[in-house]
Amino acid sequence: MEPTPPGVERNAAPIVHGGEIAALEAVLSRGQWGHGPATDRFEAGIAELLGVPDAVAVNSGTSALHLALRSVGIGPGDDVVVPSLTFAASVQAIAFGGARPRFAEIDPETLAVTPDTVMEAITPDTKAVMPVLYGGRAVDLSPIRAALAKRGIQVVEDAAHAFGSRAPGGWMVGADPDTVTCFSFDPIKNLTTGQGGAIVPRSRAEADNLRSLRLFGIVQSRDTRAGLTTYEVQGAGMRFDMSQLNAAIGLVQLEHFTGVATMRQHLWRTYQAELSGLDGVHLVDVDVANTVPFNCVVRLDRGRDEVFHRLRTENIGVAVHYPPNHTQPGFAAWHRDLPVTERVAAQILGLPFHPAMTYDSVRFVVTALARAVKETA
Ligand SMILES: Cc1ncc(COP(=O)(O)O)c(C=O)c1O
Repeated sequence: MEPTPPGVERNAAPIVHGGEIAALEAVLSRGQWGHGPATDRFEAGIAELLGVPDAVAVNSGTSALHLALRSVGIGPGDDVVVPSLTFAASVQAIAFGGARPRFAEIDPETLAVTPDTVMEAITPDTKAVMPVLYGGRAVDLSPIRAALAKRGIQVVEDAAHAFGSRAPGGWMVGADPDTVTCFSFDPIKNLTTGQGGAIVPRSRAEADNLRSLRLFGIVQSRDTRAGLTTYEVQGAGMRFDMSQLNAAIGLVQLEHFTGVATMRQHLWRTYQAELSGLDGVHLVDVDVANTVPFNCVVRLDRGRDEVFHRLRTENIGVAVHYPPNHTQPGFAAWHRDLPVTERVAAQILGLPFHPAMTYDSVRFVVTALARAVKETA
């Protein structure tokens, strides 16, 4: 029997470039492990890569969303439009802050909201829209930006999947001056710090507020505080800062980001070529020319659950991103009928997708998928 090619048993996995260990040792030996100079350097590094003036690092993508919503004034009594087909974190960031998620439909081809599905979901209480950049693909809300602005509705983007992607013919995700963008740097994302996230603010004042919100509401930086007998708490704040241990990993990952981005695009295109012509299997399009793909998802015409179990039995790391949120018991208060989301959610299957995979890994997965689809028919 042929040996199994690398990486097929994992749906997603981080890549270690090598320098991370030395970078961690350097932080460990300096004895100051919390937020510090490495965090500041990491913030500067991501801002430079995105071509934006500033970025605020936090301890997770979920914290980034939570703080971004709070900083734009979202709270109890407000509705926030969000797709149901996203990770629970997007919805929790809204609900945990006391606002109401208002679930929106998606385009079955991209699994993301569209200007039409956003407008359909808006209520008189809607104060924000949270598009989710599914698979890394940018969401273009420009046709409705004026309509949203007229109603005072802000855009806080969940770009957890989309670090390094670009809007077609336009700016990097994060560089739209009218949007607050939130990234996740968890272990399987395009860029990782081990665990972490970042917010791209729209102004200096927004950045200052986010920095205060992420660290106890204290005005003075940690370094300044060390030389003072007091400090000033200016308002609410939590412990959501990014440690230097995480930032040190992120700085090394950042040095290798361009290579990883190319690798992810190449891997996605390899899947695209191998999947073409496979009956009953439709690749969810990520607009790979502009996107650093986070995953590779197909929709199956029939038998998704059986195909999933067959492939898992063969130790192939398929996964479902995501079970919809509007049918979760914890979100029952905000349920509404979303027939497209329900249909699509029963069809999607995420294939193993991470930089350790090779051409042979993709061929192996696609051959197994074709067999499972055929046997399920
Ligand atoms: C779409 C989406 N939003 C938000 C998050 C939350 O990010 P984190 O795990 O860094 O809190 C994730 C990742 O898990 C995600 O996939």
